[in-house]
Amino acid sequence: ADSTASAAIVEHTFNVQNLTLTRLCNRQVITAVNDSFPGPRIRVREGDTLIVHVFNKSPYNLTIHWHGIFQILSSWADGPKMVTQCPIRPRNKYTYKFKIIKQEGTLWWHAHASALRATVYGALIILPRTGNSYPFPKPYREVPILLGEWWNANIVDIQNEALALGRGPNISDACTINGWPGDLFPCCINQMYKLKVERGKTYLLRIINAALDNQLFYKIANHNMTVVAVDACYTNRYVTDVVAIASGQTVDVLLTADQPIGSYYMAARAYASALGIQFDTTTTRGVIVYDGAPPSTTPLMPVLPAFNDTPTAHKFYSNLTSLVGGPHWGPVPVKVDHKMFVTIGLALQVCPSNTTCQGPFNGTKLSAAMNNQSFVSPTGLSMLQAFFFNVGGVYTTDFPTKPPVQFDYTNASINSNLPLLFAPKGTKTTKLKFNSTVEMVLQNTAIVGVENHPMHLHGFDFHVMAQGFGNYNPDTDASKFNLFDPQMRNTIAVPVGGWSVIRFVANNPGVWFMHCHFDAHLPIGLATAFVVENGPTPATTLPPPPADLPQC
Ligand code: C2O
Repeated sequence: ADSTASAAIVEHTFNVQNLTLTRLCNRQVITAVNDSFPGPRIRVREGDTLIVHVFNKSPYNLTIHWHGIFQILSSWADGPKMVTQCPIRPRNKYTYKFKIIKQEGTLWWHAHASALRATVYGALIILPRTGNSYPFPKPYREVPILLGEWWNANIVDIQNEALALGRGPNISDACTINGWPGDLFPCCINQMYKLKVERGKTYLLRIINAALDNQLFYKIANHNMTVVAVDACYTNRYVTDVVAIASGQTVDVLLTADQPIGSYYMAARAYASALGIQFDTTTTRGVIVYDGAPPSTTPLMPVLPAFNDTPTAHKFYSNLTSLVGGPHWGPVPVKVDHKMFVTIGLALQVCPSNTTCQGPFNGTKLSAAMNNQSFVSPTGLSMLQAFFFNVGGVYTTDFPTKPPVQFDYTNASINSNLPLLFAPKGTKTTKLKFNSTVEMVLQNTAIVGVENHPMHLHGFDFHVMAQGFGNYNPDTDASKFNLFDPQMRNTIAVPVGGWSVIRFVANNPGVWFMHCHFDAHLPIGLATAFVVENGPTPATTLPPPPADLPQC
């Protein structure tokens, strides 16, 4: 059959503007799309072209990112501010246009400028082409579950204040399910997400972690879930009673309403693997109500893992495997052209003497780095424009392939003497030949804090070869690589005090951001970028920017 015949053009308009909402006994003005929170749900089929006209009626500089979309030859539509575009200024517009090729499942979109993604986000669901089906039984209904965070304050102000003082931002006032905190929070008895189900039916929950700075555990009382996809990549079916989901990730599960007629809470709480820093202990919940359940029933509550239950998180994160031979499965790259060993973690900066600093130590500001390089966005011209128009001085291509010194990365007790404590700033990238293969060892450090960083790569899915705790050892750990059915993702939660190894093929020209998906770590430098050169043919060459690309 001619499958391209079914491809459609799906068009949306995003009006981004102020919206006043009441949550947690408090009226708050937020930035939202089309007066909805979470924002509009986009549904496309694989092969479709998506066109979104974004009108910035907000007071802030704005961009929108389509998290997980490959953007094949459409890097101009990827969205990270100053990486692929200058921001859409207030009272300006930009049209994002791209084709969705060879991926299906659950992704999402969010603002990619300042901290606006706290409230500017929504689901992006990619269905199989007409005539194609899921590699699992067709669910009775599909239900997006967007996990987020809520602040009783203006989030952009909160982030600016934290950056000015050189400390981390205040933690959120609540986590949310589809925008609702749930009845454990004050004034929220009726601010709870409710899902009605029919006994015996199977539902596809498309779970998205849109939280700014939290990894989460998600659980439903008395029900197992069967994972069928993560980050829009099909997995072998994996039955679990708890989902661990890092900021940026998605997990698709089948849920069968196979319990006695009644009501059951779904709940989420932070998996805060960081040691010695403030963490969020609150629980958001929603309720699943079976058709026919008496209105008076008290729902059953699931027992969530403890906030620091790393074994449970690691079991979930490491037991998933790809569905080999599934519709968009890609073979594991065997030959590696670029080997990189990259430390990721917090760092420090010295405060200018005339400022009030509230960094972790006297006279310091919080910073973050990859291989001791703290990423700074350019001003004036985006990196992608610099790439396309061959303009020098915007970025350099000397991102190091290893840290400047080797030491015990996971031992926090020697922090004060660490050579990586103060990281220089720069806009360092790695230049890659078209179609070359990259292997990255991502090694968490224990500098300043011990954390589990969710690392997100734009433009590509990567294979997760192996993950572990402690320092990565090339002599022994390479033998643990899964060369057969490793999970594919666009965001990896690198284990706390540990490492992950990923591989990807740089088969798409453009500039591709890679960063920690904790919003608190992005503006302080936990980022780098890949510059992928054009291929040999017009069909592998980045076309010129659209005429309405915002200028700085
Ligand atoms: Cu979901 Cu660069 O982000």
